[in-house]
Amino acid sequence: MKKQLFFLETYGCQMNFSDSEIIASVMNDKGFEQTDQINQADIIFVNTCSIRENAEQRVRKRLKEFNAIKKKNPKLMVGLLGCMAERLKDQLLNEEKLVDIIAGPDSYRDIPKLIHIAESGQKAINVLLSAEETYADISPVRLDKNGIAAFISIMRGCENFCSYCIVPYTRGKERSRNPQTIINEATDLFNKGYREITLLGQNVNSYLWNTENQKVDFPDLINQIAQINPKLRIRFATSHPKDLSDRLIEVIKKHLNIARAVHLPVQSGSTEMLKRMNRKYTREMYMERIQALRKNIPDISISTDIICGFSSETDQDHADTISLMEWVTFDYAFMFKYSERPNTTAYKKYPDNVPEEVKSKRLTEIINIQQKLSLLSNKKDIGKIFEVLIEGDSRRSKDFLSGRNSQNKVVIFPKKAFEKGTYVKVLINRCSTATLFGEVIEDLK
Ligand code: 5AD
Ligand code: SF4
Repeated sequence: MKKQLFFLETYGCQMNFSDSEIIASVMNDKGFEQTDQINQADIIFVNTCSIRENAEQRVRKRLKEFNAIKKKNPKLMVGLLGCMAERLKDQLLNEEKLVDIIAGPDSYRDIPKLIHIAESGQKAINVLLSAEETYADISPVRLDKNGIAAFISIMRGCENFCSYCIVPYTRGKERSRNPQTIINEATDLFNKGYREITLLGQNVNSYLWNTENQKVDFPDLINQIAQINPKLRIRFATSHPKDLSDRLIEVIKKHLNIARAVHLPVQSGSTEMLKRMNRKYTREMYMERIQALRKNIPDISISTDIICGFSSETDQDHADTISLMEWVTFDYAFMFKYSERPNTTAYKKYPDNVPEEVKSKRLTEIINIQQKLSLLSNKKDIGKIFEVLIEGDSRRSKDFLSGRNSQNKVVIFPKKAFEKGTYVKVLINRCSTATLFGEVIEDLK
C-alpha cells in the first residue's frame, strides 16, 4: 500500500493552497497518496501562514493535538511547511518536539530528501530562499474537490516591503514564471473540464517575464490566456494599486471572460497611515484608480483588504478609512486588526501602540459598515441578469445549485437539468448580505 499523506489545512492565502498542490505533486512522484483520514496518515503536513500572530497560534494548537495520534502511531512524521517554517526556522524544532521536518516555500522539491533524513531519526530542515524557483515544471495535483475552478501560481515572492508585512521575509524575492508554462497549464486545465482559473501571486499585476528575446508583462499574459477559450473564466489575485495600469484595465475590458472583479487591497483610507505602511500611494491615488476602473468597466466589483489599528492610527485616520469605504462602496472586504510581526519595518520603527480594545472597536465598526455596503451592492443586483458558472449543489439544499457570477458573487437558484461546469443566465430576484438568489432564464451549455 502506498504511504499515506495527510494535509492539514491551515491555509493563509490562496498562494498557500496552491503550494500544497505543488507539494502533493512532489509527493505523488515519490509514491505517496493523499488521505483525508488523519489517523491513517504516515505523514502529516501542515502548510503554515505567518501573516498574523493568530494564524501561527492556530498551528501550534493543532500540533498539540497530534500528540495523541503519535502515541498510537509512533512512526508518524510531522512536517511544517511554508511561511511559518521560513520565519521560525530551527527555533521551531526546539519549541515543537513533535515536528520532524521543516521546509520553507522554496524548498518543496527537497521534501523527499528531508523525509529520508527524518526516517533515519534526525530532524530535517531546509529553509533556503531562492531567487529563481517558480516550480514552473511541476504539474500541481489539484486538491480542489469540484474540478471546476483552479489556481495557477504565476509569480512568487514580494519585494514591496509594506512595513507591517512578513511576506517579503518568508517568501523572498519577486520572480515570475515562464509565460508558456502558464499558458500550457491553463490550456490543460480547460481540456480537463475546468472553467475558471485564478492567476495567483503576492503581487500578481507586477508579473514580468523579461528575457533577452521576450518581454511579457501582466496585461500581455492575461491577454493571451483570455484567448485560450471564451468559456474559460479568468480571475487574478492579489493586485497592488500601484501596478493597476490603464493597459490592464483595457485588457480586462476587451475580454468578457476576464472576471469583472478586482481585489485591490487599500489597507487604510488615511494617506498618513499609507505612508507609514509604505504602500506607495495616497488616498487620492487609490480613488483615481477606482474611478478609472469604474469608468471603463462599469459592472466591475471591487473588493479590498483593510487593516485597522496600525501604529499610531488616530480616530481621524480611522474615520478616513470609513469614509473611503463608503466612497468606493466596496462589494466585499477582508478586515483585520493589525498584528505586529517580528523583524518587519513596523516592528523596528513604529510602536504597536493602539490598545487592543480600540483595535477591536474599530474592527467591529468597519465590519458593520462593510455588511451594510455588501447588502447595498447585492440589492442593486436585483432585477439584473448574470452569467453564472455552476459549481455544484448549494450547501444548504440539494434542490438548489450554487455558482458564481463574473463579479465573484455567489448565486443560488433552483436545480433543473443543469450541469456543473456549465454557464447559465440567471435573473436575480432576491438577496442577502452574502448571496444572490434567482431563476435560470437561459442555459448557455
Ligand atoms: N497584521 C494584520 N493584517 C495584515 N495583513 C498583512 N500583514 C498584516 C499584519 N501584520 C493583511 C493585509 C493583506 C492581507 C493578506 O493580510 O490586509 O492585504
Ligand atoms: Fe500567509 Fe502571507 Fe505566507 Fe500567504 S504569503 S501564507 S498570507 S504569510
